[in-house]
Amino acid sequence: MTTTEPVAGNGSLAAARTAQNNEYYTRWVDIESEMNAYLDYDPDVFRDKTILLPCDDPEWSNFAKFFALNFGPFGLKRLIATSYAPDSNPGLVSYQPTLFETEAPQFDEVKTRRHGKKFVLDRDVNGDGVVNIDDLQWDYLDGDGDYRSDEVTALRDESDIIITNPPFSLGREFIRWVLEADKKFSIIGPNSFPTTKEIFPLVKEGRMWLGQGFAGGNAYFRVPEDNRGGWADGVYDPETGLVKFRNVTWFTNLEHGQRHAPMQLMTQADNLRYNKQLVKKGGYRRYDNFDAIDVPLSIAIPSDYDGVMGVPVSYLDNHCPEQFDIVGITKTWFGAATKTYPSQTQISPTGRRSTVGKLNDGGAIPVDKQPDKKTCYEVDGQLYIQTYPRILIQRKADA
Ligand SMILES: C[S@@+](CC[C@H](N)C(=O)[O-])C[C@H]1O[C@@H](n2cnc3c(N)ncnc32)[C@H](O)[C@@H]1O
Repeated sequence: MTTTEPVAGNGSLAAARTAQNNEYYTRWVDIESEMNAYLDYDPDVFRDKTILLPCDDPEWSNFAKFFALNFGPFGLKRLIATSYAPDSNPGLVSYQPTLFETEAPQFDEVKTRRHGKKFVLDRDVNGDGVVNIDDLQWDYLDGDGDYRSDEVTALRDESDIIITNPPFSLGREFIRWVLEADKKFSIIGPNSFPTTKEIFPLVKEGRMWLGQGFAGGNAYFRVPEDNRGGWADGVYDPETGLVKFRNVTWFTNLEHGQRHAPMQLMTQADNLRYNKQLVKKGGYRRYDNFDAIDVPLSIAIPSDYDGVMGVPVSYLDNHCPEQFDIVGITKTWFGAATKTYPSQTQISPTGRRSTVGKLNDGGAIPVDKQPDKKTCYEVDGQLYIQTYPRILIQRKADA
């Protein structure tokens, strides 16, 4: 970092950027609520820590503003934010540098398009007695600020906590990059993350979990003005300029209290008596090929069943490690159960057969109802298609 020009305050940083695809900006209120969950559990969670925000230009990212403004109260050691070069970002429809950039002595017309930027906050630069957003210093990175570059990866390696809402199109790749560093993190990603081969083992072993999450499961993001058309009904609200997604949440390895709050559950008998939805879905069916019951709704998990239960992936929103163990997932790559239970034959339309360890997930649909699907599996001569995975859980002995 060579330059020491403080960035101006929020008001003067109104971004003149427009974008598509990856340009979904996280609301302050959602960042605050998630970070507060970690702070409630451990008020010193950020103390003396270096935080890296690897996709966050303070001009538009509330993450950068939020941590800069809370630098003192959180007791941070260092805040680093990096941004991605406009020319490398196909999502940016148009780009105009703002005054805060053009008026800085280090401003360079070419670099501002081709290089990423690095913003650092670690001391009281303007001598006003506080360390805050007015002390943020910036300079161009050598490259375009791609988080995968050597220079941003080096910043990752020197940080303690990685926090951001990453580019949606690179979600899995991004979390791999985070996980390989073996750091603390809090990032926004698709709900399907835990069903992937890389992430499920970590969730199962309690090495990462879902954050407190968005209120009511509704994640609202601000989108640039020229990305405000063409949304499906109910996604974009022209009054607020926000899109609403229900398929993303926070993933973290920072502790929070909600994760230790057990679900309030009824017995099997009471569920079957009072839970009409469960009854409509056929109650607790046993899997054909695996010694477990299927629980079609998390709210119907019985308090008094000691065996293995297959539950929807959304159960992970409420997983409390003191209440249940996660023992598996109904995915072909999850091999553990195949050692004990018979495997099935997977048949593709090309006629190729291979033996896989797929479990009957209870949500299987007879193949003749889904002729367009490519693969299916066979149980007692009947062909099925797996429609969605189940998480396999078991009540803790002392819960
Ligand atoms: C979903 S937006 C979120 C922005 C910001 N983190 C927030 O939450 O408001 C993801 C951002 O990542 C940036 N980006 C896209 N590809 C990137 C890459 N390969 N490396 C670093 N940043 C990237 C985009 O410019 C975009 O603004």
